[in-house]
Amino acid sequence: MRRWCLRSRQRAGLAGAANALTACTLLYSTRGKVKVHVKTRDGMCQDIDAPVGITLMEALRDVAKLDVAGSCNGNVECGTCHVHLSEASFEKTPAPSEREVDLLAKALEVLETSRLSCQVVVSEKLDGLEVELPTY
Ligand code: FES
Repeated sequence: MRRWCLRSRQRAGLAGAANALTACTLLYSTRGKVKVHVKTRDGMCQDIDAPVGITLMEALRDVAKLDVAGSCNGNVECGTCHVHLSEASFEKTPAPSEREVDLLAKALEVLETSRLSCQVVVSEKLDGLEVELPTY
């Protein structure tokens, strides 16, 4: 991928190591992160740094290594990524799809502020998100 990046920049008439390296640095630089405050299943509080652009489920499961199965990997089929958000955090997120609402209706411990974390994409707007993992 990196090699493709260099060749592409050179083909575009922007030859020169400095230009190519600058382009690669931009392409591969670390994305921004936002703070997510998590109350875990055992009632402990943990702050995590969630990379912008991934889903909340990926941030909880893959980055923070918390107990979130995400069994269908975000295909809205399992409901194992169910989380509760604070009211303020819920208001910050885009409205859930009809499919998400239907699946949440079958979940345990559903609250008005429940979301499937695989359907929430981490963005700068969500900095300070307050998430609680259901106790089951
Ligand atoms: S990971 Fe399966 S519904 Fe979210």
